[in-house]
Amino acid sequence: MRADFFIRRLQTFGPAIVLALAISAVRAEQAFPLSQLDLSKVQQGWGDPHANQSVEGHALSIGGQTFTNGLGTHAYSELLVNVDGNAEKFTAQVGVDDEVGAGRGNAQFEVLGDGRLLWRSAVLHGGDAPQSADVSLGGIKQLTLIVSSGSNNIDYAHADWANAEINMRAGAPEAVSPPQEPAVILTPQPSPEPRINGTRIFGVRPGTPFLFTIPATGDRPMTFGADHLPKGLRLDSQTGRITGELKKAKTFIVTLHAKNALGEAQEQFKIVCGPQIGLTPAMGWNSWNCFASAVTEEDIKAAADAMVKSGLINHGWTYINIDDFWEVNPHRADDPTLQGPQRDAEGRILPNPRFPDMPGLTAYVHGQGLKIGLYSSPGPWTCGGCVASFDHELLDAQRYAQWGFDYLKYDWCSYKPELESHRGHSAEFVKQLGGWSGSTPTDRAQLMRPYAIMHAALEKQPRDILFSLCQYGMGDVWKWGAQVGGNSWRTTGDIRDTWSSMSANGFGEAGEGKYAGPGHFNDPDMLVVGYVGWGPSLHPTRLTPNEQYTHISLWCLLASPLLIGCDMTKLDPFTLSLLSNDEVLAVDQDPLAQQASRVADDGTQQVWAKDMEDGSKAVGLFNLSRSDVKVVAQWSELGLTGRQRVRDLWRQKDLGEFSDRFETTVPPHGVVLVRMWPVK
Ligand code: GAL
Repeated sequence: MRADFFIRRLQTFGPAIVLALAISAVRAEQAFPLSQLDLSKVQQGWGDPHANQSVEGHALSIGGQTFTNGLGTHAYSELLVNVDGNAEKFTAQVGVDDEVGAGRGNAQFEVLGDGRLLWRSAVLHGGDAPQSADVSLGGIKQLTLIVSSGSNNIDYAHADWANAEINMRAGAPEAVSPPQEPAVILTPQPSPEPRINGTRIFGVRPGTPFLFTIPATGDRPMTFGADHLPKGLRLDSQTGRITGELKKAKTFIVTLHAKNALGEAQEQFKIVCGPQIGLTPAMGWNSWNCFASAVTEEDIKAAADAMVKSGLINHGWTYINIDDFWEVNPHRADDPTLQGPQRDAEGRILPNPRFPDMPGLTAYVHGQGLKIGLYSSPGPWTCGGCVASFDHELLDAQRYAQWGFDYLKYDWCSYKPELESHRGHSAEFVKQLGGWSGSTPTDRAQLMRPYAIMHAALEKQPRDILFSLCQYGMGDVWKWGAQVGGNSWRTTGDIRDTWSSMSANGFGEAGEGKYAGPGHFNDPDMLVVGYVGWGPSLHPTRLTPNEQYTHISLWCLLASPLLIGCDMTKLDPFTLSLLSNDEVLAVDQDPLAQQASRVADDGTQQVWAKDMEDGSKAVGLFNLSRSDVKVVAQWSELGLTGRQRVRDLWRQKDLGEFSDRFETTVPPHGVVLVRMWPVK
């Protein structure tokens, strides 16, 4: 009886109950403003994320429209949000904040669901109207919100996710940090038998001091030999150092030998005596990404010691470079270690008290078989406000050469084209300048001029000084950096130890490869592995282990200068393994000096490839998403035909032969780096 009664009641009221449940479900759906999530989880290329304000702290405003709600960030920016399959949709109005001014900045907004691209905006600029995103999230577990710059220059990319909301059927969205990963060492231990590493081609100008240390791994004691060494050069068979001087422009093919109790290795080495130096990208260390304005002479000596003690010198690492803050800094009166006379009576630059003996310091570094570099700016002040080279270029170049420096990083900062009309009597004008912010002309001749002046001054010196341009990519520097004698030129703003910064700098190099070649390279900035921190306090890199593999692999594919940015005295085994894989480093140092091109890109996976001198190809299969993905390198995209032998370079293991494609699963933000040889 009772059951019958209930069934009848259900038949009568069933539809009404279903309707009521549906209504309550609709009511349960709730909109969560993005601005209410934990924004400390946002990773971004510059500044801090702000709730309901722009990155600079103004009211959110896009194309003249203001918004009271949203997230103000800066490209490259990334936020992970767990929605656990309970989200309905994501909506927002996106654009570049009006605070940057019309036409400035580029920002491209992307919404990813479980690593797959769901929505992408146009590349937006300051002043553009907001673009609406209305993205369905059915079944998605994790949402990723990305702002890239749509190019490799993130300047002014102040990006607003205005009115951004996640609609949830149940639960609440949660902003999360990227997952923790174990640091797995892939590089095998170097063999105890001798192996000669590093560059196979070396440029030197006639009449300049020659220094090359044969980089070789293997048990010590080791002795070195060199067949057909040209007249004027000599080899120290104990240290493997080749020194001397070549008088005439000519190319020499030398055979290098390294021998120990277990065997002997030999390699061909080409010495090209002529106008071009730096034929393969510079490998070394620079003080900025660890010590920044705190750098001292002791730090430089310690870095040189560690380069030798860690064995990195045996893998081809050579330069020990002092960045900014070796000079006097009148703008930092609070710091006595930066004070003193700026130049002597003849106008020659003087170092600050932290660097009391420059010739002694260069001799110390050379005495270890290494080379040494320093830093200046074409304006009156460096980026940190120290004394720089404007109107003293020749004197400074002479000074660097006399001191014994081998490398100059020349950083735009306070330079302005207006300075040029004040040469010879610039002191008054410089005073009027006040601070040390420069200007960013669009005229190519104006951009080239200060670099051409310093290059001419360097050329006059009886010493080879590698010339590294730094001006963050202004005026498409890659198109003309070689014309002003640049051995490399920074293509981007400063790198930081975040995925957003590193990946924007590295992957942003697409399309610039045709401007690189032997002796002149694109430079997406220094390495951010190991203990970094812009001094004095340091921290382990915030890149995950896979991101670090991506960083090193990409920089090697790009034939980028490799300048270690960490405290060399705190090298841990994982960092050391990243910097000492000779098969990986050989991709960077290949004599063909080709920069890899991006041959495939679907938003979350990219394939980059470059030709190697021996007819093989180096290929990077990259995963830009937060989950494992299968990445495919198709022969049709690589320009290959026929069977290829494929070798994993990090693991130094052959993977077999493949006939039309190579595919592999790549971990989140990770890479598989391979080399392919045609099967004869
Ligand atoms: C920046 C440059 C950095 C570092 C710094 C020194 O402009 O990009 O790499 O050299 O100046 O002040």
